[in-house]
Amino acid sequence: MIDLRRMTHWLITGATRSGKSNLLAALVVQWAPQRVALVGIDLKGGLELSFMQARLSALAATRSEASVLLSQLVEFAFERMALCRSLGARDIWEVQEKRRPVR
Ligand SMILES: Nc1ncnc2c1ncn2[C@@H]1O[C@H](COP(=O)(O)OP(=O)(O)OP(=O)(O)O)[C@@H](O)[C@H]1O
Ligand SMILES: [Mg+2]
Repeated sequence: MIDLRRMTHWLITGATRSGKSNLLAALVVQWAPQRVALVGIDLKGGLELSFMQARLSALAATRSEASVLLSQLVEFAFERMALCRSLGARDIWEVQEKRRPVR
């Protein structure tokens, strides 16, 4: 079990054919029904993630698309930090549910 509220950054590594793509697909299947926004950056030209595109808010498949998407995510992060600061919260989990932005 990984509690993403406590462990917000992580990295999957492994040998070729060790199951990285399967793990990622299994995670997305579990996240899909939840009220979370998912974005993908897939620099294999969309080979890995395009099958889940219908569920993603955005999918970048090239470096230039990734650059645009990452800039947008930085904007979101700054908006959220400003919200937290205005409410005296250290992260969005300390923000009341009704005011909390989509994770
Ligand atoms: N938990 C698992 N149990 C049984 N088989 C699995 C499991 N995870 C993956 N596999 C099988 O192992 C093979 C490799 O899995 P996968 O493609 O996810 O690996 P990968 O690490 O992404 O490989 P690559 O580095 O080539 O991208 C596939 O045939 C997959 O069906
Ligand atoms: Mg893979």
